[in-house]
Amino acid sequence: MTKIEKIVLSYSGGLDTSIILKWLQETYGCEVVTFTADLGQGEELEPARAKAEMSGVKDIRIVDLREEFVRDFVFPMLRANALYEGQYLLGSSIARPLIAKHLVGIAREVGADAVAHGATGKGNDQIRFELAVNALDPSIRVIAPWRQWTIRSRMQLLEYAEKHRILVPSDKRGEAPFSIDANLLHTSTEGKILENPAEVAPDHVYQRTVDPIDAPDAPEIITIGFERGDPISVNGKAVTPAALLTELNGLGGRHGVGRLDLVENRFIGMKSRGIYETPGGTILLAAHRGIESITLDRAAAHLKDEIMPRYAELIYNGFWFAPEREMLQALIDHSQAFVSGEVTLRLYKGSASVISRASPCSLYSADLVTFEESAIAFDHHDAEGFIRLNGLRLRSLAARNGR
Ligand code: ARG
Repeated sequence: MTKIEKIVLSYSGGLDTSIILKWLQETYGCEVVTFTADLGQGEELEPARAKAEMSGVKDIRIVDLREEFVRDFVFPMLRANALYEGQYLLGSSIARPLIAKHLVGIAREVGADAVAHGATGKGNDQIRFELAVNALDPSIRVIAPWRQWTIRSRMQLLEYAEKHRILVPSDKRGEAPFSIDANLLHTSTEGKILENPAEVAPDHVYQRTVDPIDAPDAPEIITIGFERGDPISVNGKAVTPAALLTELNGLGGRHGVGRLDLVENRFIGMKSRGIYETPGGTILLAAHRGIESITLDRAAAHLKDEIMPRYAELIYNGFWFAPEREMLQALIDHSQAFVSGEVTLRLYKGSASVISRASPCSLYSADLVTFEESAIAFDHHDAEGFIRLNGLRLRSLAARNGR
C-alpha cells in the first residue's frame, strides 16, 4: 500500500464522521481536509467548523450547494418523473454524486490523493460515492473507514467515541439517534425500531411533515409554473430552484404531503425499511406529470414512462456519471422542449392533487375531444375502420380458438 499524503473527508460533524476524522488522523498520520456540504439538511453548519477546528483540521471547507443540488441534480431527475420501485423519490441517491463531485474537486485543488466518506459497508451510499469518484477521477483513492476498521456496530462506535472524548449526540428524547439523511429533497430515517418492518413507525421519526390526520381542515390551493420541464414559479412568483423546493417543502409539510414507509431492495443485496419525507418533491412530481399530460405527445410520454424505471435504477445504484444515464438524460431533456405552463394543485390532508393545468404549448383540443358538435373535422367512419383493422387478428384468433 502506497502512503497516503492528504485526505479530503466528507464531514457532517455528526458522530460517525467525527470518529472517522479522528481515526483517519491516527491511522494515516496525514493531513485531513474536511468538506461539509450545505444541501439544505436544515442543520447549523458552524458547529461542524468548530468541531473540525478542535480536532486540529487546518483546511475546513463548508460550501452551500443548495442551488446546484436542485438545479443540476433534482430537476433533471424530476424531468424523468423518476421513482425507484414505483415509490421512492431518490432523495439520498441523487445527493451522492454531487457530494462526490465536490470531494474530487477539492482533492484536486489541495493535491490530496484520497477522499473518505462515512457510509457503511451494507448500504447503497458507499457505492454511489465511489462509482462517482471512479467516473470523475480514477487517480483518487477512496477510503471507507466503515469497511476497514475493527468497529462492527453502533455500540462499538459509541465506545470508541467515549474513549476518544468525542461528543455523542442524542435525539430530542435523549436516545441514540436513528440513521438519518436529510437534504432539500427529503429526510430518510432508518435503523432501530424501523428495522422490524412489522412494527409501525412511531410518530417521532417524522421530521418535516405533520401527520395528515393533524393537517389543516382547510385545503390550500397552489399554482406552479413550468418552463421546459423545470418548475420556475410558485403562485406566480418566480423563484430560484432551491427557494422553490424550500417553499414547497414548507407547504407540503404543513399538509402532511409526501410521507412514505417503504421496504426497498438495496443494490448491495438486502431489503431495508425506511421512512421517507419528501413533501416538495411529491408536489413537484404530481405537478410535472400534470403539465406533461397536456404538452407531451402520447408516444413521447409512453416512451418516457418505459425508460423511467431504468433511469431511476441507475440513479439508485450510483451510476449518475455513467454514459447510459447521460444518454437517457439527453432523451428526457429533449422531450421537455414544450413542457411549459401552469399547474394548480390542492394540498389537503396528505394529498397533493392536480385540479387544473394550462399551457401555451398545449396539445389538448377541447374541440377535438368534445361530446358536443364540433367544428373540427372528425369522421366517425374513420373510427369504424380503425377498430375493424385493429380487430382483424383478434377475429382470426377467436375463429381458430373457438371462443
Ligand atoms: N435507503 C435510502 C437510499 O438508499 C437512504 C439511504 C441513506 N439514509 C439513511 N438514513 N442513512 O437511498
